Amino acid sequence: MRDFMDLFSLKGKKAIVTGGTRGLGYGMAEGLCRAGAEVAILGTSEKVRESADALARTTGVVVHGIVGDLVREEEVPNIYKRLVESLDGQADILVNCAGVQHRCVAEDFPMEEWNRILRVNLGAMFQMSQLAARDMLQRGYGRIINVASMTSFFGSVMIPAYAASKGGVAQLTKACSNEWSSRGVTVNAIAPGYMETKLTSDMKAKNPDQYEEVTARIPMHRWGKAEDLAGITVFLASDAAEYITGAVIPVDGGYLAK
Ligand SMILES: NC(=O)c1ccc[n+]([C@@H]2O[C@H](COP(=O)([O-])OP(=O)(O)OC[C@H]3O[C@@H](n4cnc5c(N)ncnc54)[C@H](O)[C@@H]3O)[C@@H](O)[C@H]2O)c1
Repeated sequence: MRDFMDLFSLKGKKAIVTGGTRGLGYGMAEGLCRAGAEVAILGTSEKVRESADALARTTGVVVHGIVGDLVREEEVPNIYKRLVESLDGQADILVNCAGVQHRCVAEDFPMEEWNRILRVNLGAMFQMSQLAARDMLQRGYGRIINVASMTSFFGSVMIPAYAASKGGVAQLTKACSNEWSSRGVTVNAIAPGYMETKLTSDMKAKNPDQYEEVTARIPMHRWGKAEDLAGITVFLASDAAEYITGAVIPVDGGYLAK
């Protein structure tokens, strides 16, 4: 009989992580590596190769660093191709984590930023999911994990494009799950709470009142860290989560429950 803990093992599995260079994506990639998966991470600069080397060094598995910019729609098929080729043509797991943010009051919010944020956070996520699903559906197996947000549930302030994109991520997750899960491809989302990364570092400076309010409201009294996402990522990518699909799972220190 199969050992129970083997349900959580990712040995022999291959994974793509967009936005794996730093921040939450790096923490998620590290979890997948520690569970035994071979991983290809995508980043916008050559720094992605340093991150891949660091992951390989600390976890002892093979990690590939691929450079590509998801903002350009026409380049995404080629980016996906290079990621899959680095994994010898097979991706069992896709983590869509790349994301961008811009903070500004809604009435002055620049349309240029609106378009960039909707494009990277939602449009590119759908494209990557489509491309991966075509391969996964053929093999009858796949795990797609999208990174949503607390703003998949509420609107927040000064981040209208980000909130709109993350609301879309939650619905896209359910829509894709409805079409693909009966054919072996589960689609779920992780909704991180307030996490300490470069993306959120400007809240303290630009909106200190909001920063204080948020921090006081977190029941666990701390912001999250990248490593707080490693366990849930491995779980959703593993056979242990076979019957979980279309879910948007908060990892927020209890914030939404309050
Ligand atoms: N930090 C938080 O509190 C928080 C909370 C909820 C959700 N998230 C989400 O988590 C994800 C990661 O955010 P983070 O906080 O680690 O931010 P980060 O800025 O540290 O990392 C963002 C990553 O996305 C990649 N990226 C950005 N634009 C890209 C593009 N055009 N093409 C390819 N890659 C691109 C970057 O290279 C980087 O690796 C995002 O989707 C974000 O919305 C973050």
